[in-house]
Amino acid sequence: MTEFKPLVFSGVQPTGNLHLGNYLGAIRKFVALQENNDCIYCVVDMHALTAQLVHEDMPTQIRSITAAFLAAGIDPEKHIVFNQSQVPQHAELAWIFNCVARIGWMNRMTQFKDKAGKDREQASLGLYAYPSLMAADILVYRATHVPVGDDQKQHLELARDIAMKFNLDFHDKIVPTGLGIDIKVGEEPVHAYFPMVEPLIDGPAPRVMSLKDGSKKMSKSDPSDLSRINLMDDQDAISKKIRKAKTDPDALPSETEGLKGRPEADNLVGIFAALADKSKADVLTEFGGQQFSVFKPALIDLAVEVLAPINAEMRRLMEDPGHIDAVLRDGGARARARAEKTMNEVRDIIGFVR
Ligand code: TYM
Repeated sequence: MTEFKPLVFSGVQPTGNLHLGNYLGAIRKFVALQENNDCIYCVVDMHALTAQLVHEDMPTQIRSITAAFLAAGIDPEKHIVFNQSQVPQHAELAWIFNCVARIGWMNRMTQFKDKAGKDREQASLGLYAYPSLMAADILVYRATHVPVGDDQKQHLELARDIAMKFNLDFHDKIVPTGLGIDIKVGEEPVHAYFPMVEPLIDGPAPRVMSLKDGSKKMSKSDPSDLSRINLMDDQDAISKKIRKAKTDPDALPSETEGLKGRPEADNLVGIFAALADKSKADVLTEFGGQQFSVFKPALIDLAVEVLAPINAEMRRLMEDPGHIDAVLRDGGARARARAEKTMNEVRDIIGFVR
């Protein structure tokens, strides 16, 4: 049984400030994965239109996410860094996937329900079709592994459903062309053109929570800036936000079991663990029995130590937008060549004349 060549793909939207959740849930994993994998990292600017059609400063937003990728340590020469709109094949495959995906599948997407809010009739068609474009982002490269935070899990399940339905519906076209690969789905052997993508979600911080409310995700759209640490926050802001972070009156437990029912404590310990590249258990071995008055200053020191160099490098890179644009153009050209190869095969499988 042959296998798809392992390929990592992930994307980040250029909407608002990047925060610690984006960094720990996604970007830090992007950096680690590039050691042993071929990786493609994308600033998904077309997705950003689903949040808001007219952006005050789209170019700056795109450059700032790119700067964060580079400052965090992603190598744009060994790997590919680009913005989505430079590769129109994403949108082309998304249209095909719109015709593969079923309305019932889209109706189950919890992020659509959350983002559309009460007045669903007024939500854009783009917001509804968002997960279909996301599946196309990944599958236009036939990528196999996708590092993301926990909130993207359902979207990646949908990408698998879309891939599977395409593989089955076009089975008779894929097999004779020899374009597919034999894979196993559970016990079943399947001749597949698209791989079953695997989400890479694990780690100590798959879901970083708000500093003000341990039951809410840390988010770019939270109206309170105190709820999140932004990658562009300076030392004073980081320190103030952690000092003001909500906690409970008890000391930290010595074992992870003791974090149950204590969402704020669990979140801060998870953040510490991710920043220190340790497990939560290790952090509790060190801090179990200590009060937050001891733990918070240690967390502030660690957060500043990890984030300050990234912050400084982002600022430096943002002073040279020409360099960032050149990185994106180069990555865009390399991504386009790969995506066009897939699209030619997809056009043949579907039967479009070219
Ligand atoms: P976006 O831009 O909202 O977030 C970027 C990444 O950050 C992760 N993340 C978090 N992780 C942990 N805790 C949090 N509080 C937190 N908030 C955000 C997200 O899970 C994500 O990995 N739909 C995607 C962008 C996208 C994409 C793709 C991702 C478009 N196409 C293809 C992977 C593959 C999104 O909105 O991410």
